Amino acid sequence: MAAKEINQQQQTQSWERYWQSDQGSQTQISDQLKQQCLTPLWQRFLRQAFIATPNAVTLEIGCGDGYLADLNAPLLPASSQLLCLDISTAAAQWVEQKHPRLAAVAANANALPLADHSVDIVISQFGIEYAGAAAFAEVGRVLKPKGKLLLFCHQQGSSIFQECHGNRQTLQAFIDSQVMPLAAAAFRAGYRILAGQGSQQAFRDADKALAPAVEQVKQLLLHPQCDADQFLRRVFADLGKMYGRIQHYQADDVSAWFNHNNQAIVEYLGRMQSMTDAALSTAQTEQITAQLAQAGILLDCTAVQHNTQPLGWVFERK
Ligand SMILES: C[S@@+](CC[C@H](N)C(=O)[O-])C[C@H]1O[C@@H](n2cnc3c(N)ncnc32)[C@H](O)[C@@H]1O
Repeated sequence: MAAKEINQQQQTQSWERYWQSDQGSQTQISDQLKQQCLTPLWQRFLRQAFIATPNAVTLEIGCGDGYLADLNAPLLPASSQLLCLDISTAAAQWVEQKHPRLAAVAANANALPLADHSVDIVISQFGIEYAGAAAFAEVGRVLKPKGKLLLFCHQQGSSIFQECHGNRQTLQAFIDSQVMPLAAAAFRAGYRILAGQGSQQAFRDADKALAPAVEQVKQLLLHPQCDADQFLRRVFADLGKMYGRIQHYQADDVSAWFNHNNQAIVEYLGRMQSMTDAALSTAQTEQITAQLAQAGILLDCTAVQHNTQPLGWVFERK
């Protein structure tokens, strides 16, 4: 199953698979948060920016399934262009399908496929920081001298960060318990007996090896708190059901179940890792502000709260 740390490429793949899937489980931005905080902020900025620059070329970084594109589309002047960029091809295609008037491209924000000083407005909501410091330098390169910019970034310690961090820890602890490989081994021993090839002793040994991992996971999921707890509880319950009635399940179906769920767990962990790794500290916001100041872009950086909890950093050009 997963290595201890999921690497950059796997994190990218986990986004691709996420946007390809039906998005079963992950930290979602609540409607309340959108209505009370995010939507008014973006509408204020976009209205002002489009009035100031009616023929603007706007770039959105890390568009996902198009939350900002949905907000943008009705406000966008006929003469303006909006390019939505995401590392995930599925996300870019999804936005283009929803909004044929917009253009979308799959690319890494740390190497923007755009000419120097070719963009009037750059926007991002919980997107650019996933691509690291190089992406902020890229913004400095592509933004026009008087271009506008609003970036809403994850903050270390924010409510979303805490949630993702909790999910990450639970997923990692579940993987570390080895319950999935140990259960798979016990199933294999069980199916060998059913096929008349294995020994009872081999099954008992596999079952004994599995028992401590099962106990560990029971403790881990005893008091579900986060989304990952709920997700893993479903996986664990299904596992228990199959294990108790092994003779009623086909070996191939069980094997496919393990493949599917192992992959889902690793991908979920990949997204949670990429979020918690992306979240910016105060020192990082100072570096970004200094970096863009060198490119002639002076920024206000504000820590925004929602329901008295830290929510994120907003960078806006002065
Ligand atoms: C938390 S989602 C936010 C999506 C959307 N902006 C929203 O607010 O709903 C982060 C997005 O960043 C994208 N992303 C991750 N790494 C990226 C990179 N290096 N370059 C561009 N996009 C990236 C992911 O595919 C994902 O769509």
